[in-house]
Amino acid sequence: MKRYFCYTLIGCTFLVTILSFNFLESQGLKDVSSFPIGTAINFDQLKADAKLKKIQIENFNSITAENDMKMYNVKPNEKEYNWDKVDQMMAYAQKNKQRVFGHTLVWHSGTPDWVKEKGRKDTLWLDNFLKEYILDYVGRYKGKIEGWDVVNEALETEGGDYRKTLWYNVLGKNYIHKAFKYAHEADPNAKLFYNDFNIERDTLKLQGVLNMVKDLKSENVPISGIGFQMHIRMDIPGEVIEHALKKAAETGLLIHLSEVDIIFNKHDDTKNGGVQKYQELTEEMKIAQAEKYKNLVDIYKRVVPKEQQYGITFWGFTDRDSWVKSFFKINDWPCLFDDNLEAKPAYHSFKKALH
Ligand code: XIL
Repeated sequence: MKRYFCYTLIGCTFLVTILSFNFLESQGLKDVSSFPIGTAINFDQLKADAKLKKIQIENFNSITAENDMKMYNVKPNEKEYNWDKVDQMMAYAQKNKQRVFGHTLVWHSGTPDWVKEKGRKDTLWLDNFLKEYILDYVGRYKGKIEGWDVVNEALETEGGDYRKTLWYNVLGKNYIHKAFKYAHEADPNAKLFYNDFNIERDTLKLQGVLNMVKDLKSENVPISGIGFQMHIRMDIPGEVIEHALKKAAETGLLIHLSEVDIIFNKHDDTKNGGVQKYQELTEEMKIAQAEKYKNLVDIYKRVVPKEQQYGITFWGFTDRDSWVKSFFKINDWPCLFDDNLEAKPAYHSFKKALH
């Protein structure tokens, strides 16, 4: 009788272990995280690819349009708005209970040529266009789009100076203040971000952002957060990233890792500017990348206070589709899933670190 009881107990323990193991395995990234886990998507591609869609739904509870919500897509010409794709995305997000993050209202690379041509010659027109565009866009999705990258990449690639874009050249640095004010006017509850790249490693550039934030706050401009794009390389030291996130968190603003990917090769931040150093992805490289992804989560959780953790968003989740390859013209393996949409060691280590 006693022996029978023992066997039953062992059997039950075994079953519970197996079941809980399966349960953990069947949980996606979002299910084990205390903050939202997002990804950039190309909506047409997602719609057409069942496997991609399944992975996206299982793992993410926040989405950012990779390109579909940029100005050149939403306002392709003076006469009309093109809301179609955004509306489809909103419906998808609602159905799958995902947060929509708006990317991006004002960005030099997202500005269509027709706006550049007109704006260059007519300051008043550009000033008015900025206002109308933001009020229309943010107003249309009021209460539905939770947060926005209001201004993207307003600083030069290196250092802390303002980037000499159409917006800056015609309207002065005040265009940033105005953009935030209009967005807030259109949706007072939306979280409003300034977003930029390399600020986790370029100290001068980070200081430029912090100065800008100070400036905005001193004029009561409603900024809620800083977006670290976090397109990083394997050789960017964790200590450097940690220092930058710590300084940014001291502002008390929300901190969003907004476009995360980790590459092995190099580039000079310009289109087609990639340098191919590694030809293939070895097992050792996969393990090292897994460690790097884990460290990133550890740093974020350690340095950014809980109430300031807006989330971690990937700039795509498969090596197959990563923007890095086409944009910089290199082959690389920056994401959590590989070319065949299988989870890499990076996926598992990232997930474990979220627990
Ligand atoms: C990139 C897209 O991924 C590419 O498809 C497109 O060709 C160029 O823009 N910083 C940003 C993103 O804020 O909008 C950029 O997205 C990547 C760098």
